[in-house]
Formats: sequence, C-alpha cells, structure tokens
Amino acid sequence: MLLRILLLFFSLQLCCSIDSITPQNPLKDGDVLLSKGGKFTLGFFSPGNSTRKYLGIWFTKVSVQTVVWVANRDKPISGPQGVFSIGVDGNLQVSSGKAVAWSTNISALIPPNDVNSTSGQILDSGNFVLASNNGKTMHWQSFDYLTDTFLPEMKIGLSKRTGLNRYLTSWRALDDPSPGNYSFRVDPNGSPQFFLYQGSDPVWRSGPWIGSRWSGVPEMTRAFIFNYSFVSNPDEISVTYTILNDSVISIFLVDGFTGTVKRRTWQESAKRWVEFWSAPKELCDQYGECGAYGSCNPNSGNQSECACFPGYRPKSPRDWYLRDGSEGCVKEDNVSMCRSGEGFLKLPSVKLPDTSKAVVNTSMTVKECAEACLRNCSCMAYTSADDSRGGSGCIALYGELIDTRLYPGGGQDVYFRADAVALAKYQKSKVALKNKRLEVILIVLAVLTFIIFVSTTAFWVHKKKKREWEEKRQRSIWIKDADDSDSDSELPFFTRNEISAATDNFSFANKLGEGGFGSVYKGRLRSGQEIAVKKLAQNSGQGVQEFKNEVRLIAKLQHRNLVRMLGCCIQGEEKMLIYEFMPNKSLDTFIFSKPIFISKNKLSVPRNCFLVLLTKEEKKASLDWKKRFDVILGIARGMLYLHQDSRLRIIHRDLKAGNVLLDKDMVPKIADFGMARIFGGEEVQANTTRVVGTYGYMAPEYALEGLISMKSDVFSFGVLLLEIITGRKNSGFYPDNPSINLVGHVWDLWKEGRALELVDPALNNDVDSEGEILTSIQVGLLCVQERADDRPAMSAVLFMLSNKVEIPSPSQPAFIHKGGHRDVDPSSSSTGAYSVNEMSVSATMVQGR
Ligand SMILES: *[C@@H]1O[C@H](CO)[C@@H](O)[C@H](O)[C@H]1NC(C)=O
Ligand SMILES: *[C@@H]1O[C@H](CO)[C@@H](O)[C@H](O)[C@H]1NC(C)=O
Ligand SMILES: *[C@@H]1O[C@H](CO)[C@@H](O)[C@H](O)[C@H]1NC(C)=O
Ligand SMILES: *[C@@H]1O[C@H](CO)[C@@H](O)[C@H](O)[C@H]1NC(C)=O
Ligand SMILES: *[C@@H]1O[C@H](CO)[C@@H](O)[C@H](O)[C@H]1NC(C)=O
Ligand SMILES: *[C@@H]1O[C@H](CO)[C@@H](O)[C@H](O)[C@H]1NC(C)=O
Ligand SMILES: *[C@@H]1O[C@H](CO)[C@@H](O)[C@H](O)[C@H]1NC(C)=O
Ligand SMILES: *[C@@H]1O[C@H](CO)[C@@H](O)[C@H](O)[C@H]1NC(C)=O
Ligand SMILES: *[C@@H]1O[C@H](CO)[C@@H](O)[C@H](O)[C@H]1NC(C)=O
Ligand SMILES: *[C@@H]1O[C@H](CO)[C@@H](O)[C@H](O)[C@H]1NC(C)=O
Repeated sequence: MLLRILLLFFSLQLCCSIDSITPQNPLKDGDVLLSKGGKFTLGFFSPGNSTRKYLGIWFTKVSVQTVVWVANRDKPISGPQGVFSIGVDGNLQVSSGKAVAWSTNISALIPPNDVNSTSGQILDSGNFVLASNNGKTMHWQSFDYLTDTFLPEMKIGLSKRTGLNRYLTSWRALDDPSPGNYSFRVDPNGSPQFFLYQGSDPVWRSGPWIGSRWSGVPEMTRAFIFNYSFVSNPDEISVTYTILNDSVISIFLVDGFTGTVKRRTWQESAKRWVEFWSAPKELCDQYGECGAYGSCNPNSGNQSECACFPGYRPKSPRDWYLRDGSEGCVKEDNVSMCRSGEGFLKLPSVKLPDTSKAVVNTSMTVKECAEACLRNCSCMAYTSADDSRGGSGCIALYGELIDTRLYPGGGQDVYFRADAVALAKYQKSKVALKNKRLEVILIVLAVLTFIIFVSTTAFWVHKKKKREWEEKRQRSIWIKDADDSDSDSELPFFTRNEISAATDNFSFANKLGEGGFGSVYKGRLRSGQEIAVKKLAQNSGQGVQEFKNEVRLIAKLQHRNLVRMLGCCIQGEEKMLIYEFMPNKSLDTFIFSKPIFISKNKLSVPRNCFLVLLTKEEKKASLDWKKRFDVILGIARGMLYLHQDSRLRIIHRDLKAGNVLLDKDMVPKIADFGMARIFGGEEVQANTTRVVGTYGYMAPEYALEGLISMKSDVFSFGVLLLEIITGRKNSGFYPDNPSINLVGHVWDLWKEGRALELVDPALNNDVDSEGEILTSIQVGLLCVQERADDRPAMSAVLFMLSNKVEIPSPSQPAFIHKGGHRDVDPSSSSTGAYSVNEMSVSATMVQGR
C-alpha cells in the first residue's frame, strides 16, 4: 500500500515538474518547464492582447503573469506550433515547423560527441542553463543575455575579459517584448556608473559606487532587504544583489512606458506589484538638468531649482531666467585656473558630478587626495571614494563638473577647485590646506586680532554702547559654541528690541502658550514674516543648558519634517529662540478632543461642553485618514533623519503630539529639541541620571533605569502613532476600564482582533483604509513593545508603513497599566496649543548600585 502511494507520488512528481529539455525531449507549445523549487516557469506565452508567441520565463507563484526573460524577443512565432529544442549542433533553438525564429550561437564550443548528453535546465534562480557532461560543462545561460529584468543573482555590467556586456533593455510595449528605446547599462569609464539611456542619450545616472551605495541613490541603506555588491577590478565591472529574505519576491526592471528604472515587490495579499523605488523621480534627477558647474536643488525656495556653484554664474542668463539651466554656468571672474593661491570650496551633501572622467585611487587618504588634486591643474574637484566609514580613498574629477544635485541630509561632500578670488569671496567654507602662505595668514590674523582688540576696548569705554556690546559678545559666544565645524549653520541674531517690537512687547494677546521652560509668543517681523518666539523662563534651572542644546542642534538640522529655526536672541539672562510660525499649531489640537473628564474640577462637565466638543470634533474630522497617515509618515521621516540620516545621531527624548507642529499644508514638523541628546558615531545607548520627557510617552527602560537609545524614541513614536489613529491620549481616562491606558486598551482589543473599534470615530468608518489603519496599529504596537531590542528601528518603521510588506506580530507592550509609573495630570499646566514642554517633567534618578 505504502509502496503504491510512494510510486504514485513519484510518478506525479515526474509528470508534473520537468525542469529540463534534452535533444530527445524538446518542449512544445502548451507544455512548460518548472524549476525544482517551483519558483520559475519556462514556456511559450503571448503578452497582453498579442496573439504572437514568445518563449519566456516567468514567476510561477505570481498570479499576474510577470515575464522576466524572453528568448525570441524580436522574432515571434505566429502559430501554436512552437518548439524549444536542442539542435543537432547542440544549440538551443526556438522554431515553428522548419523556420528557426531564434537560436544560440555556440556551435564551436560543443564537441559533437557531447551533443547527445547536453541538457537545458531551468533553475530556481530563474536562470536557464545549457550544459553537458551531466551539467559539469556550461555552454550558455540566459543570465548572460538579459532582457528588461534584473533578478537576484544576475549580474549586470561588463566582463572585460570576454567583452560580454550585460545590460537591460525595455520592452517596446506591454504586448511587444522587442527591444525598446530605454536601456540601463554600465559606463566603465573613470569611476564606473550605471546610466539609464533613451536611445543613446543619458536620462539618469546612478553615480559611482561609494562604499555601500550609489552616490545617486541616497535612500539605499545598509543591507536590510537587498544586499547589493559591486565589483570593479581589471576583470570585470558588475553589480549583483541578493534578497535576504526568501519570502520576498522583487524585481528591478527598465520600464519603457514611463522611461524609468524601478524596483517592485510583489504583495501577495493585494495580488499586485508595489513600487518600491524608481528613478528618475524629479527634475533634478534628469541627467545634466543644471548643466556644467550647476547644482540642482529640488527644495530650493527659488522658482528655479538650478543654482551655480559658488564663484560661477549662468552661462546664458536668458535661458536660465526661462528655467532652462542646461547650458550650465561659467566662472564669475576672469582669473584663469592654475594660479597660486588656489584651493577648494565645499559642496555639501550632493550627488557626485559625472565621474566618467574621474581617476580613482582607493589607497589614498582624503587629505592626500586634496593635495594631489591641487597639484594637477586639470583636476577640478575631489572627494572620498568610500563614504561609508568616515571617508577614505580618492576620486579626482577631471573635465566639466556636470549633473550635480543636492540631497538634503543624504549626499556626499565634494570639494571643487576655486581660485584665490572666489576663495576670498566664499571664504567661510574654504578648506584649510597647508600652504606656503601661512606667514601671510598669520600676519592677517594678528592684524585682525589687534583690530578686534582695539575696537572692543573702544566699545567698552563707551558706556552708552555697553548694552549692544554685551549682545554681540553673547552672540559670539554661542556661535563659537554652536558652530564647531560648519559655517552654513550660522543664524541671524535678533536684538531684544526687534523681538519686542515683533511681539507687541510680548503682549498677552500674542501669547500662544506657556510651560515649564517659558512662554511662546506669536510675532511679525518688520519684513512681514510671521514668527514664533520661545522665551525661556529666566529662573528655570535647566534653561541655559537646554537653550544651548537646542540652538546647537537645530542650527545643524534641516529637514522638511523638522521645524526651522530662524534665529535666536540672548540678552543677559534672557534667551529666546525664533522659529518659523506654524499657523495650524500643534498636532494635539487636532487629534484630541478636549479631555473633559480630566479637567481641573475633575468629573464636572462644563455646561457649554457640548459646544466645545462639537467644534473640536469638526477640527478632528478635518484630519481624515489620508492626512493622518501623511502626518504619521512625515513624523517618521523626521525621526529617521534625526536618528540616522543627519550627520549626528540625535535622540529627541520628548516626542509627543504637543511637539509636532503643522504648517499651512498640514505638513508635520517636529519641534522642541530642548531635551535632545547627541550621540557619538558608534554609541547606541547611554545612561542618564536626569530623566526628562513626558509620562505616557516614555519607554520603560528610560523611565525606570534612565537608559536612552533610539529605541526609546521609537517607543514614543509608537504611542503617538496610536494616539493619532484613536484620537485619544495615552494617559487619558477610559470610563470602561480606568486602570488601563490607551496602549493597554489597543493591545487588549488587538489580541481579540477588534482593534478597529478604537479607531477615532471622526474618521467615519473609512472602510477603504482599514487595511492601512490596521497596518499602522500593528506597527504602533511593535514600537511600544516591552523590550527595546524588539522594537523596530525608524527605518524599518517607515519601510513597513510605506510598503505593503508582511509585518511581525507584536508582543505585549510596556506600561499598559496606569500604575506602571507615577501618574501626572497632563492638563494641569497646559494653556493651549503652541506647546513649550508644557507637559514635560523632569526627575533626577538616583543612580542605583
Ligand atoms: C487588451 O484589450 C482590452 C480591450 O480592448 C484593453 O482594455 C486592454 O487595455 C488591452 N490590454 C493591453 C495590455 O493592451
Ligand atoms: C555566430 O558567431 C559567429 C562568430 O562568433 C559569427 O560570425 C556569426 O555571425 C554568428 N551568427 C549569428 C547568427 O549570430
Ligand atoms: C545521438 O542520438 C541520436 C538519436 O538517438 C543518434 O542517432 C546519434 O548517433 C547520437 N549521436 C552520438 C554522437 O552519439
Ligand atoms: C523610440 O524612439 C524613436 C525615435 O526617437 C521614436 O520614433 C519611437 O516612437 C520610440 N519608440 C517608443 C516605443 O517609444
Ligand atoms: C552581502 O553580500 C556579501 C557579498 O556577497 C556578503 O559577504 C555579506 O555577508 C552579505 N550580507 C548579508 C547581510 O547577507
Ligand atoms: C535663488 O536664486 C538667486 C538668483 O538666481 C540666487 O542668488 C540664490 O542663491 C538662490 N537661492 C537658493 C536658495 O538657491
Ligand atoms: C577676460 O580677460 C581677457 C583678457 O585678460 C579679455 O580678453 C576677455 O574679454 C575677458 N573676459 C571677460 C568675460 O571679461
Ligand atoms: C595611489 O596612491 C598611493 C598613495 O599615494 C600611491 O602610492 C599609488 O601609486 C597610487 N595608485 C595609483 C594607481 O595611482
Ligand atoms: C593630471 O592628471 C591627468 C589625469 O590623471 C593626467 O593625464 C595628467 O598628466 C596630469 N597632469 C599633470 C601635470 O600631472
Ligand atoms: C521573512 O519574512 C517573513 C514574512 O515577512 C517572516 O515571517 C520571516 O521570519 C522572514 N525570514 C527571515 C529570515 O527574516
């Protein structure tokens, strides 16, 4: 009986999963080959509405037929008589009757005696291999002749030994796989780069490989899902990748329809491909958008995104004015290159200019690189060849510097050659280089010091001006303090009189809020710009430290989702920070209805409470799910920038709804860095004796042991995420279960599969978004897990939120009971929206043991 079942099983196996063809057993139209693990299928297919037949390979398990390779791309067969076979000379061929539509061309390589033992096999990688000697001698593989799809384990690039160039070409149309106009191939010159071409015109450039990513793909992070490896040696230039999790199905392809390269991942639950990444995305990605010596800034406040390098001006001002920057820029002054006194100016955070004329030396240090570049008059710029570990190696750029663009927070610094005139003009960012003129500089410095000394003394004598002088001194102190490396972080300094005038002498009418560290006022500068002024309380013991911290930090941070500081003001003990004004105030005014049950006179409901609730509910309803989701993504991006993408590692320590401001377009901006901590490069966790933050948002290891890490911010983010979805405060009071907080509540319902019941009623049962809402709740629960190690990093959070991937199940969250730590009435000190740490508390930990 057992034997019979076994026999049946094997015969079934045999009948249903043939994975190879032999000279004796060709493949006919209608039959297919199935790879051993069942991942790929090879057979005849007709794309779209076409009736023509092609031989191709497609994913077996993807329900939308996705062809990754085609043999007879431009020679289709028109009837059902197609045959895929191994010919008498050992070559693979696709034929119909007598007519051969396609064949390989390797006849010289297969000895006639071996022909009968050759076989062609489809592998689980999607590769079709023709081999003889029981698979020992390989003659041909489909991975060497790519069509439009780049699969894991494939290589694209140039084999310098054999001359074989593997590259992708788009399909001509959805129902026509013949080669289209777009191709993606390596440019081996200089420092190798990949280009997307339309015909022979470059459309987009990946930039060179700079250690762990392409210079033009800043969103590529450390091996997380995809592990790319790039090889450039005398034998070959190639790139390949693997997918770290076998259950993820993903392809990289050239899409001729949109003229882009893109990566897609298959989402089984929705039965569709989801776009993971694509390029070019914006104008600045277009090759040479701003021409030579022009740099493209997608977020420039200007109407035109092009700007010339410092010391350069538009070559054709008229075209430039008409927003065509492709002519590029020329030098501003008429000093020819290669004179004494030359040096370098820095272009911060950019995609490297075209490196096809670059010279790479990986054994040089960056300093040697600068010196070598300065010595050779035709060297136009330099940068490090490996950006991943603080910078090493040397890329020296020759020829015109073209296709440079800015990546706020994500690019690489490039130093370009500038003459003495330009250096003097843009001296602030001049790169210090040892040179013979040290004496001259010393003399200049001595003279300057003398002048400063004399003038300060003179000021001092004039008692009338003492006050102004005091301000200037303070200013120089903080600038020195705050600005240890960059000059671009310099901020305008406002006098107290200016601020006083702007806020109508800090009138009560302009007051936006008040909290432990001071008050916030609305103001309008004489220029008309609206500002928010945070005036720190003079007697707050933490003021000085927090102030310096905040100034130092924010001066360096620039991100769409972080609030922008416009300047500051110090006068004596009084310190003020000036921010851009956010008309929509903070997020908590949108998502929470007035917590009537925890108002000061406890459970007494004000008589007009119904009215109050109504208007609040209207405000809540104005934030529909789509807007809320955008807000969540925005906050996540801002946090990711703080944790990972800015050059510093910053732990915010006080993320909460009150510290997220909304601009007029409802773009969220994280505010209040008074408590942030900067971490050193490799430091991931620290111990603090001063625990600051807001109850309800504090991670357990932080609240109880003073341990801070990025994961403690992730915890706060999780709480905030759940608050945004439910429209309730974590520390709020729930009549149905008073001993438990929001997180506990969500967890309880989640376990029972009823989490949707807690969704803010103001979202009006948005049925279409239920999937997204559930995903977000699940991510929120992952973020508030008890063990810090279990919580995902912000990069993973953002990935899970913005891609439809499978998400792990959360374990029990921390602090679900209100008794978990001391309870503080959060509404007691709040007067309104524009928060100033209004609910933040601070406690000194007693260092145990
Ligand atoms: C196939 O034909 C149908 C009906 O004419 C059309 O709606 C559809 O877009 C076509 N599909 C392709 C891939 O061209
Ligand atoms: C096959 O290869 C030979 C030499 O490699 C070349 O001369 C010939 O044109 C090729 N034939 C086809 C059909 O590509
Ligand atoms: C290969 O097989 C065919 C058919 O089975 C046979 O006629 C031929 O002689 C064989 N060739 C060699 C070299 O064994
Ligand atoms: C390819 O480019 C040519 C010439 O630029 C154009 O005529 C043709 O329509 C393009 N084909 C496709 C499929 O876009
Ligand atoms: C990524 O690939 C490289 C080289 O193929 C390998 O050494 C490394 O271990 C891989 N990384 C991961 C996380 O699998
Ligand atoms: C805006 O354009 C002007 C004139 O073209 C230029 O001087 C300025 O630097 C530009 N600002 C930015 C932020 O690009
Ligand atoms: C630069 O200087 C040269 C001679 O010194 C002069 O002929 C030329 O016109 C100048 N160019 C510009 C743009 O000023
Ligand atoms: C790279 O730089 C090192 C150190 O300066 C030098 O010895 C070596 O010759 C350089 N290599 C090339 C290929 O230029
Ligand atoms: C400058 O560098 C280029 C490219 O490496 C080289 O061809 C040229 O000879 C160098 N010139 C000098 C003066 O060293
Ligand atoms: C791969 O992903 C699946 C679902 O997303 C997950 O269950 C599995 O643990 C992952 N495997 C690895 C090795 O990460």
